[in-house]
Amino acid sequence: MLPAAVTIVEVGPRDGLQNEPLRLPHQDKVRFIDLLSAAGLPVIEVAAFVSPRWVPQMADAAEVCQGITRRSGTRYPALVPNETGLERAHAAGLSDVAIFAAASEAFSRKNINQSIAESLETYRRVCTRARELDMRVRGYVSTAFGCPFEGTIAPSRVADVAGALLDMGAFEIAISDTIGVAHPGQMPAVIEAVLSRVPLQAIALHLHDTRGTALASVLSALHHGVATYDASAGGLGGCPYAPGATGNLATEDLVYMLDGLGIESGVDLGALLEASRFMEPRIGHPLPSRYYRAATAAGS
Ligand code: HMG
Ligand code: MG
Repeated sequence: MLPAAVTIVEVGPRDGLQNEPLRLPHQDKVRFIDLLSAAGLPVIEVAAFVSPRWVPQMADAAEVCQGITRRSGTRYPALVPNETGLERAHAAGLSDVAIFAAASEAFSRKNINQSIAESLETYRRVCTRARELDMRVRGYVSTAFGCPFEGTIAPSRVADVAGALLDMGAFEIAISDTIGVAHPGQMPAVIEAVLSRVPLQAIALHLHDTRGTALASVLSALHHGVATYDASAGGLGGCPYAPGATGNLATEDLVYMLDGLGIESGVDLGALLEASRFMEPRIGHPLPSRYYRAATAAGS
């Protein structure tokens, strides 16, 4: 039995644009997000309130958040690495944030300059403060299917970090394939391990598509009942601290497959193409989404 409906979390404005070398004016990001809202996406991760020295592409997070037109029914989270980030997100008018831990010590150190244990301490304080501010917190577990520095990651380590994030107050945990190594053969063991600590309805899957296996992994996870998937319009994306990582699973490719399976996502594929079409000339290279390329070649 496949889920009748899924929630797509659009991460293009954050995960996609954080990795683009060109610095876009914040007005372009705002327009991109507004087009994504018009396509019916229920959740759009709009920015990251991280150190601008670490990720200069996200330095305009506040301007972006303040510029967008919020569609009723869509949530607009932003990534925060610490309490400073949380306060900045709150001041920019957001009510949703996401914290990001890793299942690998080496990646945690490279990405946020903290051990996993130190980061969990930081995130506990973020969650406490978020409760005071009545803000909703999502959690990510990076390198859940493999690490560029440590290689294979035991599913039990993923489950431990996922469980810790849930216990401190995250409402949903995005099990993340940071560098796009995941394949359907890994899904049962990782999902079952995480299920020992996190209920099914709180599990999301965040895949990068470096090796072209992301959609196959989604199909496997759908059969396990996972009903929330991250994706980025056009397949924008990557991670500045994960060598070799390419874009996220493309939202168009995901929606096309879900439509074919009769699974409701609420996303209008034609309107989504408009958002990618707006972004492609601005980032200076072709977008990798297969559906987008086919639709563009066909002139639709
Ligand atoms: P640090 O250098 O160890 O710590 O950075 P620090 O506390 O000394 O901060 C350094 C400077 O940043 C200071 O400024 C702070 O004030 C400032 P200075 O005194 O040098 O002028 N600072 C901040 N400024 C703005 N907003 C903040 C903030 N915090 C500190 N929130 C830190 C530690 C965590 C801050 C840094 O490592 C950082 O920002 N890392 C972010 C890395 C990042 O954004 N990575 C990409 C996102 S994760 C991802 O893509 C994976 C995901 O997609 C899932 C997956 O695919 O796996 C989510
Ligand atoms: Mg990512």
